[in-house]
Amino acid sequence: MRVLTGDTPTGNLHLGHWVGSVKRRVQMQDTHECYFLVANMHAFTTRADKASDIRRDCIEVARDALCMGIDPERSAMFLQTEVPAIAELTYLFAMLLPYNRVMRNPTLKDELEIKGLKDNYSFGFPLYTVGQTADILAFRAHAVPVGEDQVPHIELTREVARRFNKMYCGVPDKAPDEEHESLGGVFPIPVADVGEVGRLVGIDGQNKMSKSLGNSVEIRDTAKQVKKKIGKIYTGQDSRQPDDPGEIDPAKNPLFQYVETFIADPDRVVELRDRYARGDNIGDGEVKMAVVDAINELLEPMRERRERYASDDVVLEILMEGSRKANVIAEETLAMAKDAASLRFFDRTIELS
Ligand code: TRP
Repeated sequence: MRVLTGDTPTGNLHLGHWVGSVKRRVQMQDTHECYFLVANMHAFTTRADKASDIRRDCIEVARDALCMGIDPERSAMFLQTEVPAIAELTYLFAMLLPYNRVMRNPTLKDELEIKGLKDNYSFGFPLYTVGQTADILAFRAHAVPVGEDQVPHIELTREVARRFNKMYCGVPDKAPDEEHESLGGVFPIPVADVGEVGRLVGIDGQNKMSKSLGNSVEIRDTAKQVKKKIGKIYTGQDSRQPDDPGEIDPAKNPLFQYVETFIADPDRVVELRDRYARGDNIGDGEVKMAVVDAINELLEPMRERRERYASDDVVLEILMEGSRKANVIAEETLAMAKDAASLRFFDRTIELS
C-alpha cells in the first residue's frame, strides 16, 4: 500500500505534532510505501510575501521530522515544488472541477473565515485544494493519513480521480471505487485514513497545542525547558477539594491528558489516577515530575538524532534524495495521465542537482 501525506511548513514541530500525526507516520514506515510531502507552495497561499521564511520553515520541519524518526532510507520526504508533475496535474485537474464545486469545500470556507480573508484572498488560495488532489494523485496513493479537517480535500481528490478515469480511461460510469484501477483507470480512488489521532491540549490547559499560542512543548526543547513548561501546566482546579477529595475527576484535569499520552506503563497511569482521585498523598508536583520524566524519555533519542541532522546541507541532501524518489513515480503518473488525456507528445526526464 502506498501512502502520501503532507504538511504546510510552519516551522518547528512540537509534541502536538508528534501525538497528532508524526508518531503514526514513523510506525507506517514499517508497513507502507511512504511519501511525505512538505507543502511549501501551499504556504504561499497566505505568506507569499514571506518567501524566505517559508524556505527556512521547510528545513526546520524536515529536520524535526527526521529527529522524530522519519527515516530517509524507508520513506521519501520531499519538497512539493521540486516535483513539477504536481503543478502540471493541478492545472489539468482544475479543468475537471466546476469552480463552484471547489468553493463549496467546508474546510476552505472555514480557513477563509478563521483567517479573516473575506473577499481578499488570492486566486491561489482556493486553488491549493485542487493542488492537494494533485499531491495525492501524482503518487497514485491508496491511502492518505490525515486529520479530520482534511477529509473534504480527500473527497475532492476522489471526485477528481473518478472523473478522470471515466472521462479519459474508459472506466464505466457505475464502476465501484475499488475497481477503477483494474478497469484501466490511471488513478486508484484514495481513502482518507483518519485513524485515532490525538489532540493534545497545550500547557495552558485550555487550547490545542499550537506554536502561535505559545503553549507548546517543542521537540527541540532541552530537558530543563520541558521541566519548566510542564511545571506551569494549569491543572484546571485546585487538585484537592478539601471537603470532598474523592470527587475529583482526573479526566477533567489537563495534566492527566499528559499522563495518559506520555506515560507508557498502563499500571503506572492507573496508579497515578487512583491516588490522585483519592487524594492519596499525591500533589500536582509529583504527577508533573512523572510527566516530565516520560516526555524527556521520549525526546532523548530525538535529541541524539539532532546532532546527525544539525547541518542544513544534510537536511537538504535528504530532501533532494526524497524529491528524486518522488519524481520517479510522479513522472510516471504524469506520463500515464497525459497519455490518457491525449497530451503526451514527447517524453522527458527530470534531474535534480
Ligand atoms: N493541507 C494539508 C494541511 O494543511 C497539507 C497537505 C498538503 C496535505 N498536501 C497534502 C495533506 C496531501 C495530505 C495530502 O495540513
